[in-house]
Amino acid sequence: MRIWSKALHVGWLLAAMGTGMGAAAQTVASTPPMGWNSWNFFAGKVTDKDIRDTADLLVSTGMRDAGYVYVNIDDTWEGKRDAQGRIQSNEKFPDMKALADYVHSKGLKLGIYSSPGPQTCARFEGSLGHEEQDAQTYADWGIDYLKYDLCSYGGVMRQQAPNDIAGQYKLMHEAYEKMHQAIVKTGRPMVYSFCQYGMDSVWQWGPGVGANLWRTTGDISANFDRMSLIGRSQAGLAKYAGPGHWNDPDMLEVGNGRLNHVENVTHMTLWAMLAAPLIAGNNLTQMTPDVAAILMNKDVIAIDQDALGKQGDRVFAEGPFEIWAKPLKDEAGHPSMAVAIFNFGESDPDLRGVGLHLKEMGFNGQVTARDVWAGKDLGRIGDDYKFILPKHGVVLLVVKR
Ligand code: GLA
Repeated sequence: MRIWSKALHVGWLLAAMGTGMGAAAQTVASTPPMGWNSWNFFAGKVTDKDIRDTADLLVSTGMRDAGYVYVNIDDTWEGKRDAQGRIQSNEKFPDMKALADYVHSKGLKLGIYSSPGPQTCARFEGSLGHEEQDAQTYADWGIDYLKYDLCSYGGVMRQQAPNDIAGQYKLMHEAYEKMHQAIVKTGRPMVYSFCQYGMDSVWQWGPGVGANLWRTTGDISANFDRMSLIGRSQAGLAKYAGPGHWNDPDMLEVGNGRLNHVENVTHMTLWAMLAAPLIAGNNLTQMTPDVAAILMNKDVIAIDQDALGKQGDRVFAEGPFEIWAKPLKDEAGHPSMAVAIFNFGESDPDLRGVGLHLKEMGFNGQVTARDVWAGKDLGRIGDDYKFILPKHGVVLLVVKR
């Protein structure tokens, strides 16, 4: 009897672990979070007005209705602490509660940023020693999402466990767990976003200490080489992602820097294939119709947000060509898959062409294919069908047996 009940208990625990670590994690981020974050464009200059303008534009451009609901304030909102130790926002953000009310009135959610260290990466006030107090302040303001960025806590780890990597990592796990518990204690659901650049293979332990998403790499920047390096380095991580807990290859640079149309499409495609959080990072006051169409392509978003919650992975690589495949939720018993064929090379176009390599993704013979960006059915095709891709380009298909 005793053994039986123990087995039941362990079984329940394993089931809970398999579904994303318990109830708190399950109430948010059942699909990869979508929204906007201030860092990639505004960086340290972001103000209350930028956030309000962005909220207005998320609505008027249709982005909110396409799924982009989180408006996330990144670093540099923090002021000093008051006499009771309560964190204040700085002069750029005169009234955080009023801002949250405004954002909520638009049918959006508000995110904020802090660090487990004494200082954030931009050297503003961090949460060290104030975790419960800060989580409660965020809850009082009406915050729905916290990005927690290691930053100066790396120094604390090195100081407290010198020359002891395992000891440093243990401190890091504890610091993230501490804020997790603090959030849970507030009773307010918040998406909990880890930012520690993939240290200690965070995908292995992050979900166990409350992560809904975790950055897997260092920072993205608005150029093709950095974006594609980060995206491609997600190979092999698919098994760690699922409803409530996602790999985060960093926020989108679509519409930023010198990424051209083809590169923006490739960026969006790769992130959708990765079931990555889609957190736009562009200046919405200057968004072109082209960038808007890329960010809001319904079929591409549907691949990212697919209810099966499976991250795609690389199934083929040869020279500049790579094929990534992402299983999609069965439609009436017809297993389907999103398939992206990339040309990461410099030949423009690469006239060698590249075929589907269907065996690599478990298909025999031909498939019915739809070209997602072109919005065009290709009919039944097999490996002999060759795709000619531009430099840095991609073709995104949904294929069915
Ligand atoms: C780190 C993070 C970035 C951003 C900055 C803010 O570099 O990785 O995403 O939050 O800090 O200072």
